[in-house]
Amino acid sequence: MKIQPFELERYFAKYEFKIEHLMSASDCEGLYIQELIAMASPQSLDLWNNLKLNYTESAGHPLLRQGIASLYSETTVEQVLVAVPEELIFIAMQNLVNPKDHVIAISPTYQSLHSIVESLGCELSLWQLVLHEGEWAIDIPQLESLIKKNTKLIIINFPNNPTGFSPTKKELEEIVQIAQKHGITIFSDEMYRLLEFRIEDRLPSISEIYENGIALSGLSKSFALPGLRVGWLTSKNTKLLDQLLEYKDYTTICNSAPSEILAIMALENADGIIERNLEILRHNIEHSKKYFAQVPHLVDWIAPKAGSIAFPKWKGKKPMDQLCESLITEKGLMIVPGKLFHFPNDHFRVGLGRKNYPESLSIFIDHIKSMD
Ligand SMILES: Cc1ncc(COP(=O)(O)O)c(C=O)c1O
Repeated sequence: MKIQPFELERYFAKYEFKIEHLMSASDCEGLYIQELIAMASPQSLDLWNNLKLNYTESAGHPLLRQGIASLYSETTVEQVLVAVPEELIFIAMQNLVNPKDHVIAISPTYQSLHSIVESLGCELSLWQLVLHEGEWAIDIPQLESLIKKNTKLIIINFPNNPTGFSPTKKELEEIVQIAQKHGITIFSDEMYRLLEFRIEDRLPSISEIYENGIALSGLSKSFALPGLRVGWLTSKNTKLLDQLLEYKDYTTICNSAPSEILAIMALENADGIIERNLEILRHNIEHSKKYFAQVPHLVDWIAPKAGSIAFPKWKGKKPMDQLCESLITEKGLMIVPGKLFHFPNDHFRVGLGRKNYPESLSIFIDHIKSMD
């Protein structure tokens, strides 16, 4: 399979480890390994100290799968498959569709949720998020109008990367009803789930409310542990998970042994880690509201409902590409232009999970004021 370059990842590869102010990172401030080990229970510390670096169980360490299942209401260990998040998107798409199938995917979103099905020869329709009275929204009738006889898969991503949009429970149920009516599978990327600013905004996982649903989650965003490379799929359809597991024999076979134990430690401390990340996010969102309010003629700040990113609108005269270029070369600061999400280039992504965000934001605001 020939696949198009992953533009967002290539952009990050160019700058992520070279520039000082990464104002667009989608993860939360990374935890140190020592912080994680200090939180560990005696049992997981024992696993860590006596870890033999053998191959591991392909579907994931049983205690890890159990820890993952406990994040949900009624998910069982058998309904969990562990691998790298991006790998799971790749594996799932290979198995969920065939060439010429029609796929509907939310847009904007993380590029691999579009690119893989396109590379597999599927026909792709984008279901566009819209701005309604200054807030991101979904248009359910638009979804219905996109459905065709050969629609096999609907791909959603809530909380959404890059907008921070999340629908209401009722809207999610409407999406499920449409899929159910037409016998369509839903792949739901829930990588930013658990980062809801109001607990009542937390949606049930698609894997618990739809028998033909498969959900992706992981430790990279909500748990501030992208370096572990631990993610998982959950689904009631265990036959499908078995099929994906067989495919994994051709990608990584099994997970990294040290990462699995560190992941078990993280899941034991899920509430504390998530609260720590929400605290950073709430602080940075308040900061954004205050500072973007100084430049209403240049930026429309659009607060996220959940997650660690936002997608404000740029209203300045300088084209977005020039703005990004001047920020990188003159200030050592990176934002991600909207075009990398195949969205009109008058939006840009900001990452709200890093502790140095307030400092980066001041540099950003001074720079755009000076250009005005
Ligand atoms: C929506 C979404 N899904 C999946 C991923 C992939 O996660 P990972 O980079 O940990 O493999 C990302 C990463 O940015 C993402 O934003």
